[in-house]
Amino acid sequence: MDTQMTSTPSTLPSVSLFANRAALSSQISDKYIKTDRDDRFRQDLQDFVDETHAAAAGQHPEGRMLAVIGTSGAGKTWTIEKAVPRITGLDSGNFLRLTAPSPCTLKQLGRTILESLGYPLIRDLPDHIIWEKVRRHVKERGVRFIWLDEAHHTMGRGSDFELTRLRDTFKSIMQQRDWPLSLILSGLPVLSSFICGDRQVERRSQTFRFAPLAFPHDAVLVQDIIHGIVVNHASMVAGSEIQTDEFAHRLIVASERGLGSAIVLVRRAILAAYSRAGSGAMVGMADFGQAYVDERDCSPEDNIFLVSDWDRIVPSVSRLDAAPLQASSRKRRGAK
Ligand SMILES: Nc1ncnc2c1ncn2[C@@H]1O[C@H](COP(=O)(O)OP(=O)(O)O)[C@@H](O)[C@H]1O
Ligand SMILES: [Mg+2]
Repeated sequence: MDTQMTSTPSTLPSVSLFANRAALSSQISDKYIKTDRDDRFRQDLQDFVDETHAAAAGQHPEGRMLAVIGTSGAGKTWTIEKAVPRITGLDSGNFLRLTAPSPCTLKQLGRTILESLGYPLIRDLPDHIIWEKVRRHVKERGVRFIWLDEAHHTMGRGSDFELTRLRDTFKSIMQQRDWPLSLILSGLPVLSSFICGDRQVERRSQTFRFAPLAFPHDAVLVQDIIHGIVVNHASMVAGSEIQTDEFAHRLIVASERGLGSAIVLVRRAILAAYSRAGSGAMVGMADFGQAYVDERDCSPEDNIFLVSDWDRIVPSVSRLDAAPLQASSRKRRGAK
């Protein structure tokens, strides 16, 4: 992942500022960590919005689609949330944010949009009537952009026929001459196949991909993040064993290569250290072991932070209650 943390670490404090665990938790949980991925995303989103406004004012108005793609825990939702208020040309009047329900049919999506616009449907109506209402109400409300988070829910169990209907509906709302809508779709990599399945949709779309964390490429970024959260956010001390390249590699694998998931694990480890020894605790490997077991519910032998041959472990299949799956997936271990 081509990303660097952009905040500067401060010097080591000697005493934690937090009177209790809850205070520490609330302090560290909502702190945003900016990396240079934020700058690149913000620029792409700004370009997207600018191009959309230019197209709307031109002779052939049409909407566009921005696909924001990455695995779960990559940090998509937080990154978009953070960027949106900073974009010129996006405001609470012309922008609507939605999360796709799961599962989500074309009809449910239409109903969700209407509900967010303040027009909940009481009766069941045919799809085409619902989408006619969507068109009318977005125009009345002045909405030009819809951000649909978890957009892959719309294609979860969809047959080819349903996917085609969905794509056609997206296409037609982007193509509406009198009021073209633009879509920001964020979700899992499966979204990509949805877009490339239709040349007309593809032509109107651009993609921002949240690349998975990679070792050794992102080792420094991960070390900066650990330091930033432990020292700057929590005012605690980082043990030397969690400042090595090898530790960064463990964390990358433990978080399934998601930047957001890695951040969440660091926060959990800090809380584990606090529970163990209070504000003076040094955050160490065992605290990450505790954080990992809290998250994964795995046995000690499957805990990435507690064993030396950690590189055989595949976190997604290490849960104790995933026993029936485990037998077959253990065979796959080692294929990192
Ligand atoms: N830049 C960030 N700074 C701090 N925490 C973050 C950041 N990005 C993600 N997180 C944390 O990671 C979690 C998962 O991120 P999220 O944006 O929900 O991932 P995604 O939408 O890709 O599944 C968030 O709940 C948040 O706690
Ligand atoms: Mg999300």
